[in-house]
Amino acid sequence: MSNAFYTPGEHRAAKVNDLFATVARRYDLLNDLQSFGWHRRWKCRVVELAAVQPGQRALDLCCGTGDIALALARRGAEVTGLDFSPAMLEIAEARRQRNLKSQISNLKFMRGDAQQIPFPDASFDIVTVGYGLRNLTSWEKGLDEMHRVARHGARLVVLDFGKPANALWRAIYFGHLRCTVPLIGRLFCGNADAYAYILESLKHYPAQLAVAEKMRELKLVNVRVINLLGGAMAINYGEKPK
Ligand SMILES: C[S@@+](CC[C@H](N)C(=O)[O-])C[C@H]1O[C@@H](n2cnc3c(N)ncnc32)[C@H](O)[C@@H]1O
Repeated sequence: MSNAFYTPGEHRAAKVNDLFATVARRYDLLNDLQSFGWHRRWKCRVVELAAVQPGQRALDLCCGTGDIALALARRGAEVTGLDFSPAMLEIAEARRQRNLKSQISNLKFMRGDAQQIPFPDASFDIVTVGYGLRNLTSWEKGLDEMHRVARHGARLVVLDFGKPANALWRAIYFGHLRCTVPLIGRLFCGNADAYAYILESLKHYPAQLAVAEKMRELKLVNVRVINLLGGAMAINYGEKPK
C-alpha cells in the first residue's frame, strides 16, 4: 500500500519533514491517544536506562517536541535535543521556555540531521533516540553516528515500535496500526495518511533484533533488548566500552 509520506531512497527525508510539519501541532495529543498514554511510561524507562549522573552530557536525537530531552534535563544532564523539523523544534522550544521557570536551563534544542550529527567524536555520555531511527533514510547510519559521538562508557538507548515475535499478537497489533491509528489521525489531525505512515515505515524497518545485532557489530557491550507490550514496542540498550 502506498503512503503519501513514505518513499524509499533519497527523497525520504523530505517526505518525513513534510509529515512532521503536518502533525507537529497535534503530535503530543495523538501520541497519548494512539498509545493510551503509555508512551510516557516507555520514555521514562529510556531515561532510567540512561542512568544520568548530574552534569553528564546527553544527546537526544530526533527529539521532536522534547519529551525525552526534557526528562534527561530534569535528572541533571546537560542536554542537547537535535531534530531536523522546524515545526517540531518550535514546540520543543516553547516547552523549554515554560520549563525555564522551573529551573531547567541545562537544555538546548538545535536543528540538525541525525545521520550527520553536528558534533565531534566522543562528545556525549548518553545518546538516546525515541521513535527516530525508523524514520531515517538509513537507520544503520543513524546508529553509526550515535556510536561515533558517544564517549567510552556512554549509554546508547533506542526506543521504537517493534515487531512482536508472536504471530497472533503481531497480526492484532498491525491491525491496530492499520485501522485504529489512521482513524485517530483522521479524526484529531485531519490526516489519516500521516498516521498510516507508522505501519508503512515499520514494515521497512527491521526493528529490535536487527538493532541489537548492529549494536553488537559496533562492539557495544551489555547489549539488551527490552520488549514492551509483547514486543510491540522495544528498547535497545548498549554501552560503548570503557
Ligand atoms: C516520531 S517523532 C519522535 C519525537 C520524539 N523523540 C518522541 O519520542 O516523541 C520523530 C522525529 O524524528 C525527526 N527526524 C526524522 N528524521 C530525522 C533526521 N534525519 N534528522 C533529525 N531528525 C529527524 C522528525 O522531525 C520527528 O520530530
